Amino acid sequence: MQYRKLGRTGFRVSEIGYGAWGIGGTQWLGGDDPHSLDALRVAIDLGLNFIDTALAYGDGHSEHLVGQVVRETGHKVYVASKVPPKNELWPARPGIGISEVFPYDYIVKCTERSLQNLGLDTIDLQQLHVWNPEWLDREEWKRAFEDIKSSGKAQAVGVSINDHQPDSALAIIKTGLIDTVQVIYNIFDQTPETSLFPLALERDIGVIARVPLDEGALTGKIDAYTQFEPSDFRAGYFKGGRKKQVAERVAAIQQDLAIRDGALPEVALRFCLSQPAVTSVIPGMRSRANAAFNCSIPGKGPLPEKVLAILKRHAWPRNFYAE
Ligand SMILES: NC(=O)c1ccc[n+]([C@@H]2O[C@H](COP(=O)([O-])OP(=O)(O)OC[C@H]3O[C@@H](n4cnc5c(N)ncnc54)[C@H](OP(=O)(O)O)[C@@H]3O)[C@@H](O)[C@H]2O)c1
Repeated sequence: MQYRKLGRTGFRVSEIGYGAWGIGGTQWLGGDDPHSLDALRVAIDLGLNFIDTALAYGDGHSEHLVGQVVRETGHKVYVASKVPPKNELWPARPGIGISEVFPYDYIVKCTERSLQNLGLDTIDLQQLHVWNPEWLDREEWKRAFEDIKSSGKAQAVGVSINDHQPDSALAIIKTGLIDTVQVIYNIFDQTPETSLFPLALERDIGVIARVPLDEGALTGKIDAYTQFEPSDFRAGYFKGGRKKQVAERVAAIQQDLAIRDGALPEVALRFCLSQPAVTSVIPGMRSRANAAFNCSIPGKGPLPEKVLAILKRHAWPRNFYAE
């Protein structure tokens, strides 16, 4: 494992972090707690020391599992969690005021609930699960962030940026009041490279790269016939003709890079780590095998410039979350 500094927090976190949405269980089907716990433990044994969870993941279930594993390890594992939007709308909608989404008391109460679920004394990084730049001048989030930090409930604070809108966080970074941002960054969505990454580097803001495998598309394992349970989040994300489109895009990448079937997850994760602005990449990984494989990636280093130049051509702007 290799480590990078999470912006000005000074935390040295693993280049591969653990994305703990899937282990919440309600939106991702096909896993179970024993396998999730096993995957978490294997990852930590291999040096992973950063986990991204949220109160909303299985209504606290992901936090329970994460807390269990973190409490039993003998060394420091940094835990990031998130305050869900009170109106339960992902992503944040333009025109909806912060009083409906993140009132001061609600941010503090959710942080306390997360602490209870985790069974920890502090949350290393507390994030707002959505962000709307219209709230920039409001005092609710500023006061809540200040108070959860001064009371020790959280050590650092940040925002998880709305899907495919990296520039919506530029202004909040410039306030100097947050420590990190969490953003979609993968071979298909390279847009954070334009403005977000340079600003994050300039301001020493930690960047957590989420959905590095595009919810599984960039594993190369989805084809036109892949089936998901109707209540699985991926049934909607990969609905209709999207699986076929994904398979075609993946085949084009593999052909351009002349890589074999099965080699794409490594390329996809190294792609993210090739950016110095990225602190930690957080794939979801519910199996021991995926956790072990992903934790071996940092030792392989960044991708060669030639490969990055080819991958530039494979950016694919679209929003499967919204459409
Ligand atoms: N709004 C937000 O703040 C937000 C939104 C989405 C995600 N996130 C965070 O970002 C994390 C990552 O995103 P994600 O979990 O949605 O999607 P992802 O990391 O892009 O993809 C996860 C999928 O890739 C598979 N996988 C992982 N490693 C693999 C490997 N080496 N080979 C083959 N398949 C592999 C996983 O399988 P298994 O699970 O079966 O092992 C799972 O199906 C989340 O867990 C969450 O922490 C945050």
